[in-house]
Amino acid sequence: MNKRYDIGVNEVEFFLDSANLEEITQAWNMGVIAGLTTNPTLVAKEGKDFHTLLHTITGIVDGPISAEVIALDHEGMLGEARVLAGINPNIVVKIPMTEAGLRTVKVLAEEGIKTNVTLVFTPVQALLAARAGAAYVSPFLGRLDDIGENGLKVVEEICDIFVVHDIETKVIAASIRNPYHVLEAAKLGSHYATIPFSVLRQLFKHPLTEAGIQRFLDDWKKLEA
Ligand code: G3P
Repeated sequence: MNKRYDIGVNEVEFFLDSANLEEITQAWNMGVIAGLTTNPTLVAKEGKDFHTLLHTITGIVDGPISAEVIALDHEGMLGEARVLAGINPNIVVKIPMTEAGLRTVKVLAEEGIKTNVTLVFTPVQALLAARAGAAYVSPFLGRLDDIGENGLKVVEEICDIFVVHDIETKVIAASIRNPYHVLEAAKLGSHYATIPFSVLRQLFKHPLTEAGIQRFLDDWKKLEA
């Protein structure tokens, strides 16, 4: 698990995985996130116009913001991607891991539009996405765990292959379910972990931190008494 500590090629950063403006504002103000990822499920939960929501988000988050296309055909994806990318230079277009998707990624890469290939579940899918020119790949580790597979193992294999072949595509550990996923993704050399708000808040907490603050305050009160 510690094998790449001495190489020092990556400096893990965190994205928030959300489309909720309150969460996004709060997380951005925490000062610990570098960007944002969304997906159609998260956007649908907000019940707002997608493009308007994205405009608003770009005014909050000063970093990569992944926004997903809905079309599944090449021309449809290309059209949506160009519109999304035109909203703000920080927009990264999320494209599903399909044949048409990778064809789209290649064209977008040639146009200078960054993509994040999503719904990646195997190292070879990640390799293909990288070869198509994806800026990011998103292995969904939680969903692999959900079906009894080892999501972290897949993240590890992708990171290993990318290091061995000096691939510039960045790995985003996605579908994070708990702080352990964040810790292990960082140890394995993932460039990013995209974290739901509930898990992000968990990362701050430790009972000894809470108890320590309380004890300091109690002792301080004795001085004032
Ligand atoms: O970024 C991908 C993520 O949103 C998927 O998470 O929890 O729906 O598997 P989940």
